[in-house]
Amino acid sequence: MSQTTSITNVIARIESMFTTYGHETYGEDCTQLQHAQQCGTLALERGLDEELALAAFLHDIGHFIARDKALDAVDAYGYSRHSDLGADFLEQHGFSARIVEVIREHVRAKRYLCAVSKGYAERLSHASRVTLAQQGGPMTAAESAAYRRRPNLADIIQLRQLDDAGKLPDMQCPPLTFWLRLAREQLEASAAADASTRSARPSARIE
Ligand SMILES: [Fe+2]
Repeated sequence: MSQTTSITNVIARIESMFTTYGHETYGEDCTQLQHAQQCGTLALERGLDEELALAAFLHDIGHFIARDKALDAVDAYGYSRHSDLGADFLEQHGFSARIVEVIREHVRAKRYLCAVSKGYAERLSHASRVTLAQQGGPMTAAESAAYRRRPNLADIIQLRQLDDAGKLPDMQCPPLTFWLRLAREQLEASAAADASTRSARPSARIE
C-alpha cells in the first residue's frame, strides 16, 4: 500500500469514528465532537502550534476506539483507559511522537495537577472528577516529584488545560473537515521527516 493510500485510510477511519460517535457526551455539557473542536480551537487561539492543536482535537479518540471495539468497560463516562488506547492507535498510524506523548499523558497530567495545583481538582468538570477516581486519583508526592522531571511537561500540561477548558455548551469552531485536513498535513509531515531520517542514515555497507 502506498504512503498516500495509507494516510487516506487513516483519515477516513478518524472521520468515520467522529461521525459515528461524535454526538456522545460522556457526562459533559457538550458532545465529543464539540469537545474536540473546542480543544483544538482554543489551542490555536492561545497561539499554540498546529501539531499541538491537532493533538488537542484528537486527544479523546481512545473513547471512540473503545466503542468501535465494543469493550465491556465503556460506561456513561467513556473508557477510563482511553489515553493509552488513543495514543497507541495514533502511534501505529504514523502520527508524531509529540502528538502521541501528550495524548498518552493527558490522564496522568490530570492526576499530577490534582496533586500539585491548589484548587485544580475543584475546578474539574463533574465527569472529570468521577473518572479521576477510576484513573487512580491524585498522584502521590513521590509520583508527582518524578513526573515533574518529564522533559515535555510543558506540552503535556498545555494539552491538559485545553482538555479542561474545551467543555463549553456552545462555541464557534472550524468544522470537522478543517481538523481532518490538519491531520493529513501532520501525517504527511511525519512521513517526510521519517523518510529524510532514513536517507540521512549512513549505510551499513562494509567497505
Ligand atoms: Fe477530553
